[in-house]
Amino acid sequence: MDNRKMLGIDLGGSGFRVGVFDSVSGKNIGEFIEIDHGASRHPDVVLPRICSVLSTLQWNGPIGLGFPGAVEGHDILSAPNIGQEWLDAAVVQVLEQCCGGPVTLVNDADAVAIAEVQFGAGHGENGTLLTLTIGTGLGTTVTENGTLIPNLEYGLMPHPTREGKLEDHVSGRARKEFDLSLIEWAERFQEGIDHLCEQLTPDRIVLYGGIMEHWSELKPLIRAQCPLLPAIHSNSAGALGAAFCSVESSEP
Ligand code: BGC
Repeated sequence: MDNRKMLGIDLGGSGFRVGVFDSVSGKNIGEFIEIDHGASRHPDVVLPRICSVLSTLQWNGPIGLGFPGAVEGHDILSAPNIGQEWLDAAVVQVLEQCCGGPVTLVNDADAVAIAEVQFGAGHGENGTLLTLTIGTGLGTTVTENGTLIPNLEYGLMPHPTREGKLEDHVSGRARKEFDLSLIEWAERFQEGIDHLCEQLTPDRIVLYGGIMEHWSELKPLIRAQCPLLPAIHSNSAGALGAAFCSVESSEP
């Protein structure tokens, strides 16, 4: 296997993405695969699907998996948006059997931040970078001079003024659940930005997630006291960051 290639998987509440990347440039090599969970996101259904993609790609070697919950080593600590069955699933063992190499688990939002710091909008930046991963949930990752604080999970904090968690109102899911127009969603997102800025005083904020396809309309609707930037790897940062973690952890 070409040892400059690395593979990452970005698992989310609605589907998963798989990409092979160049470990030096971060560029995607070949097809970037996106698969919806469809009717089931149970690990017994999703893990074989991931394995089948790995076998189509004829991938043998280390892989990184961005998981939508808190993780530590090989343990999944929470799975708020994909189903509690994932807490007991033998995720690492099953995937290691398919790919024949070590599997590195990383929080999905942390993977996005790692990709953007290494190869994207946060590259070479000092200070406090807040990366927001806006998906089924809200991922919140802080890096200080490039060093990441893992599993921050500010999206699970109580919303400062509304009932429920911050991510209940500031996520892609919130837009569907409350049937919000883009303008209404932006107002709620602004509340989230204001709250997070108060808590974390970032020097720059990077935004990532499906909603960013509307960035040109959203841009004039949201503001912060620091620059707000779209992720450069607009749909692949999760997979890229996970891939990068697999290489980092397999280095001696
Ligand atoms: C989870 C985070 C995850 C985020 C984005 C939140 O609900 O708690 O761990 O990073 O969703 O998927």
